[in-house]
Amino acid sequence: MADIDCNLILVARTVDKLRELKQRLTMSKAKIDIYAADLRDQEQIDEFIKYIQNLPVDIFINNAGKSICRPVMQSLDRQHDFERTIKLNYLTPVQLCLALIPKLQQSKGHIINVSAVNVLFAPAVNWSAYQASKTAFDQWLRSAMPELQNRQIKVSTAYLPLVKTRMIEPTKAYQNLPALQPKQAATIISYLLQTQKRQYKPWWAMIVQLAGVLFNGIWFKLNCYYIKRK
Ligand SMILES: NC(=O)c1ccc[n+]([C@@H]2O[C@H](COP(=O)([O-])OP(=O)(O)OC[C@H]3O[C@@H](n4cnc5c(N)ncnc54)[C@H](OP(=O)(O)O)[C@@H]3O)[C@@H](O)[C@H]2O)c1
Repeated sequence: MADIDCNLILVARTVDKLRELKQRLTMSKAKIDIYAADLRDQEQIDEFIKYIQNLPVDIFINNAGKSICRPVMQSLDRQHDFERTIKLNYLTPVQLCLALIPKLQQSKGHIINVSAVNVLFAPAVNWSAYQASKTAFDQWLRSAMPELQNRQIKVSTAYLPLVKTRMIEPTKAYQNLPALQPKQAATIISYLLQTQKRQYKPWWAMIVQLAGVLFNGIWFKLNCYYIKRK
């Protein structure tokens, strides 16, 4: 998007990385603004909302996310895992949407949600915190979509498969699985932006969705077998 004549506001916690990115994009067409905020911290979210209240907004890309892979039996004293995933992956994007809807209505704008293909599938063991929080926002947005469309706000969701980013580094099982490069994930987001299609999902997602319905019992038994072996 840096090659488009637009104003980009990039939000994340790590100010050094934001500055580095802004520096790399100095020659680009877009005007780059950076805003460092922890989107799990209510005060910082409120401050950010105040900041964008004075700006026109055409596009909101909900990308910041946190994943946790941990068995429930190792989470008995870790209520905070569920709180931080639900905050960043669900409650904050809802709050940002609520704040941005009047602006997006004015600009006939576009919300793009970076989701995970797993939310379309039968749940997988060890991913309860992540999957529940990503599914929550996916459901919220799908439920809001007809109202938003009625107000001429477009909504698109990228149901991404694995992407080789920092997020999957701690999960050993993912290291040898095929995964998209971040650039390919960015291309998918641009594709949704340009085509305004409602969703992107990998070609094989439909097969896994169907298998999840047809072989739900087998999937559950496989999960139980996996846990027993572990
Ligand atoms: N990687 C995958 O396999 C995969 C697959 C499907 C979907 N996704 C989705 O893709 C999106 C991007 O994930 P990624 O793979 O790029 O993960 P990542 O490498 O961990 O990047 C996460 C991004 O979100 C920002 N962020 C994290 N916590 C934040 C917070 N509390 N406040 C503000 N910004 C925060 C991070 O910057 P700072 O750390 O500087 O804050 C970073 O820019 C997520 O929504 C994820 O669920 C990823």
